[in-house]
Amino acid sequence: MEKITLTKPDDWHLHLRGGDAMKSVVGMSALQMGRGVIMPNLSPPIVSVSQAIAYHSEIMSALSPASVFNPLMVLYLTDSTTKKEVIAASNAQEVHAVKLYPAGATTNSESGVTNLLNTYPVLEQMQKEDLPLLIHGEVTDNDIDIFDREKVFIDRTLSRLVKDFPGLRMVLEHITTKDAVDFINDSHNNIAATITPHHLLANRNDMLVGGIKPHFYCLPVLKRRTPHQDSLIRAATSGSSKFFLGTDSAPHEKHQKESACGCAGVFSAHAAIELYAEAFDRVGKIEMLEGFASFFGPDFYHLPRNEEKITLEKSKWRVPDSYNFSGSHVTPFFSGKELSWSLLV
Ligand code: NCD
Ligand code: ZN
Repeated sequence: MEKITLTKPDDWHLHLRGGDAMKSVVGMSALQMGRGVIMPNLSPPIVSVSQAIAYHSEIMSALSPASVFNPLMVLYLTDSTTKKEVIAASNAQEVHAVKLYPAGATTNSESGVTNLLNTYPVLEQMQKEDLPLLIHGEVTDNDIDIFDREKVFIDRTLSRLVKDFPGLRMVLEHITTKDAVDFINDSHNNIAATITPHHLLANRNDMLVGGIKPHFYCLPVLKRRTPHQDSLIRAATSGSSKFFLGTDSAPHEKHQKESACGCAGVFSAHAAIELYAEAFDRVGKIEMLEGFASFFGPDFYHLPRNEEKITLEKSKWRVPDSYNFSGSHVTPFFSGKELSWSLLV
């Protein structure tokens, strides 16, 4: 049986939620990943260092005692975030970044930034403290087509941000377009991007042909196979250190997605590394997985690479139709389908 051994990966973009919801999913990430960058879009959002530290403790107490998973906390940027909070964040060992959600862009983004210019003093301070900015890169204007919102954000906002803050490390999260790949490739090394397993393995046909499949709905929304999905696959498997693993695993109760107004988010923590292995192997690039999954993220965040290893074996398994989630159910990505690689635990 073919096997590969990798340095333990990390998930640089992960939604764990809180309370019982978190307890039902955190163990799945902890089994596979050394660290997770934990998104702050809870309700209410994690806007202060004290909230981030409390959330960190909640995650730690939900983990099994044997777990070595390390949650890396993130502050949610709002119009009223202060420079003082940024200084406190950069002094707190639990906090590793600040997240920009344009107001209204995605799940729980109501408190997000309404006008980026309001946050310039804070971004200045982050640049000084060398605290990375994580970006949900979509405009929210009603007149911009949902499939164009990432490209328009890059053209209108990100290119300006990169010029105005040349020393600020930024991650364009969960990229979905060739435009984003090209922008990252053409930018300096302070700019990187995460890529999700669902944007590597699916495109908008999977969501829309033969009926609307709400479990494929996420933001930024899945795009066309050519040129977008193809371009993401090429970027992830290229060996460029500007692209690394971030699942954006975002669990929602099944009934919240299977609804007349289903919410955005794809759950992938149950099989994160196996899903990436599937995507890399399909294009004959499994040997490029370790850099993307285990090296480029910690290098960008200025953290040590993990010392532990994991082993994947080429043996098929069927992804369950659902997992328990907070007394209810979550439908996982690839539910009912076969994956070719299994994680040996
Ligand atoms: C995420 C969620 O559910 O929290 N949803 C999603 O579609 N990706 C939020 C986000 O990262 O945009
Ligand atoms: Zn996300």
